Amino acid sequence: MNRVSALWHTSVGKKAVMAATGIIMVAYLITHVLANLLVFQGPEQINRYSRFLHGTGGALWAARLVLFAALVLHILAAVQLTARRQAARPVGYAGGREAQVSTFASRSIRWGGGFILVFLVYHILHFTLGTVHTSFVEGNPYHNVAAGFASPAVVVFYELAMAAVGLHLYHAGAIGVRVGGVRGDSRRGVCGGDPAVREERGRRTNVILSEAKDRVGGASEPRASLACPKRSFASLRMTTGAGNGRRQWY
Ligand code: HEM
Repeated sequence: MNRVSALWHTSVGKKAVMAATGIIMVAYLITHVLANLLVFQGPEQINRYSRFLHGTGGALWAARLVLFAALVLHILAAVQLTARRQAARPVGYAGGREAQVSTFASRSIRWGGGFILVFLVYHILHFTLGTVHTSFVEGNPYHNVAAGFASPAVVVFYELAMAAVGLHLYHAGAIGVRVGGVRGDSRRGVCGGDPAVREERGRRTNVILSEAKDRVGGASEPRASLACPKRSFASLRMTTGAGNGRRQWY
C-alpha cells in the first residue's frame, strides 16, 4: 500500500482530503460569486464574461473536471467518516444528548451538505443546462438570472441554499482556523465557566475513566487533562504522556 492510499484509509487522512477538496471548491465559489456581481452592471458585462468562460474550451472542461473530482472525494470522505462515527457508537446516549460546545453550524453540517448537493444539481439544471428553466436562453446568463428569479419560490429556494452554504463554510472555516492555531482552545464549554463546576466535571470524568479501566484492564490510572493549553500550529503534535506510555493529542 503506498503512502497516499495508507493516508486515505485513516480518519485523519479523510479529513485532510475533505479540507483540501473544500479549499478547491471555495476558491471556485469566491470567483463565481464575485463574477455574479457583474449582473448588477447590466446584461453586457455578465454575458461577455460568460462568453469568455465558454470560449476557453479545454480550460473550462479541465476546471469542471477538477471541481467534479473534488466534489466526489469530499462527499465520499464525508460519508465514510459518518459511517465510522456511527459504527464507533451504534447505540445512542441513554438520556439523550445536550449540546454543550457545538454550534448550530456544526450540528447541521451533514444535512446542510446534503441540501447543498440538491441545490447544486438543481442550479446546474437551472442555469447551465436550462432544463428546469421556464425561458432559458443559451449564452444569456443575464436573462436567465432575471427570468429565473422572477419566481418567488425559486428566490426562497436560492436564499435557503445560500444560508446553508454560509453555515457550511462558517463551520469549515471555524475548524480551519482552530486547527491552524489562529483561534484558541476548542473546548470552550470545558475550559470556560465556573471553576467549581469544571472541577466537579473533571472529578466525574476521572471516575468514569477509572471504571472503564477496571472493565478493560490497563496498567496505569487514566486521568482526564483539565488543563486548557493554548494550541498553536507548532504545538499541534502527538506526544507521549510522561513515562506512562499513553499517547495524547495536544
Ligand atoms: C445566488 C447565487 C448564485 C447565482 C445567481 C449563480 C448564478 C450562476 C449562473 C448564471 C451560472 C451559469 C453561468 C454560465 O453559464 O455562464 C452558474 C453556474 C454554476 N454555479 Fe452558480 N450561482 C449562484 C450560486 C452558486 C453556488 C452557491 C454554487 C456552489 C455551491 C454555484 C455553483 C455553480 C456551478 C458549479 C456552476 C456551473 C459552472 C459551469 O457551467 O461549468 N453557484 N451559476
